[in-house]
Amino acid sequence: MVEVRVEELGKHVGESVTVRGWLYHRRSSGKLHFLEVRDGTATVQCVVFKGNVSPETFLLADHIQQESALEVMGTVKEHARTPGLYELDAKDVKLLAPVAREYPIGPKEHGTDFLMDHRHLWLRSRRQHAIVRVRHTIVKAVRDFFDDRGFTLIDAPILTSNACEGTSTLFETDYHGDKAYLTQSGQLYMEAAAAAFGRVYCFGPTFRAEKSKTRRHLAEFWMVEPEVAFLDLEGDMRLAEDFVAHIVGRVLDGRREELKVLERDTTALDRVQAPFPRITYGQAIDILHESGHPEAKVGDDFGADEETAISGRFDRPVIVHRYPAELKAFYFKRDPTDDTLTLNMDVLAPEGYGEIIGGGQREDDLATLEASLEAHKLPRAPFEWYLDVRRYGTFQHAGFGLGIERTVAWICGLPHVRETIPFPRMLNRLAP
Ligand code: 4AD
Ligand code: MG
Repeated sequence: MVEVRVEELGKHVGESVTVRGWLYHRRSSGKLHFLEVRDGTATVQCVVFKGNVSPETFLLADHIQQESALEVMGTVKEHARTPGLYELDAKDVKLLAPVAREYPIGPKEHGTDFLMDHRHLWLRSRRQHAIVRVRHTIVKAVRDFFDDRGFTLIDAPILTSNACEGTSTLFETDYHGDKAYLTQSGQLYMEAAAAAFGRVYCFGPTFRAEKSKTRRHLAEFWMVEPEVAFLDLEGDMRLAEDFVAHIVGRVLDGRREELKVLERDTTALDRVQAPFPRITYGQAIDILHESGHPEAKVGDDFGADEETAISGRFDRPVIVHRYPAELKAFYFKRDPTDDTLTLNMDVLAPEGYGEIIGGGQREDDLATLEASLEAHKLPRAPFEWYLDVRRYGTFQHAGFGLGIERTVAWICGLPHVRETIPFPRMLNRLAP
């Protein structure tokens, strides 16, 4: 008898097969027990009819508990009323491992803390399964996008001696007697790598000791960061919009079922086509004045509320560019037409999801960069290697970082990033 994964049952209609998995749900009606079995790919309803199985098997099927590991042998049938849905007409059921105690997550509503404490088990439920599969597709789409466009993958280090995104969110650790930090961003390494390979990207976990407890901040999150030699801000914005549209398109192509489980309205995602609208920071302030934020003034950074008000004006992601320099990191190039602004851009997702991308054109002049490090009160020594990139054939370049979890939250329509990563790390959460 062939062992088949539930996802592939459709290829075995009429055959006798074995499925191994865990009991997701059970219900009975007289001579029938319905066992819903999940094997990690999907769930299948196994129909245990009294007349088809031994009395012991029939009794077992009536008592087997949720999340027991089991094996079901039976014939694959297409569902009578739902084409494309398959059932297993059981001939035998084997209990592989019973549960040691009652499974803690039932059909009743559970509080968020309880579910987060049981995240290792919560991952087994249908909704979490759908989210993780969408995440996988997004990650694959990210890699394919850059791999298909001649980018070289350059893995950035996790332990670093320099701060990329300011010193207020650093996780510090001891490195054989020296101070080291968990990386906030691989960008500085990508800038060096762009001079070696032209088009590069890194994709890995990044860390921020964010003291804020919000629905879009994690302490550990995954970021993909492309960096391109001889690219300017305009080209960077084009790359970002093509990239985001590509990711959304791939999820719409391959994960319709999962989006349905998540009850995601996909019409909003269908509109995510390049080009995206572009506004300056100054225009964003004007929008805020017109939409319930009369207090907004040049020099303010945008929080979730402001980003929601700005992106609410558009039916697809919007790019906001040229923020005041005092709001931005040391490495941005200034706008040659207005020295108070940087050549940066953020991509804000619609429907209140806010910033998913931050990036821009880099300062490529050695003396200006040295002055900027000083103005940001950053220590010089850990950045000496980075300054070398300007000493040896400096070049115009630009790039950005896209946060995977915020992107998953937006595409899946989730209210909080905690469900977008298998094992979230947040303020006050280091387990499981
Ligand atoms: O805007 P950020 O801080 O930009 C950088 O780190 C640049 N060095 C990237 C680059 O140009 N190579 O972060 C980029 C993105 C944000 O837009 C957001 O999606 C995500 O990373 N992000 C977070 N996601 C979850 N939790 C956090 N605490 C995040 N901080 C940033
Ligand atoms: Mg940012």
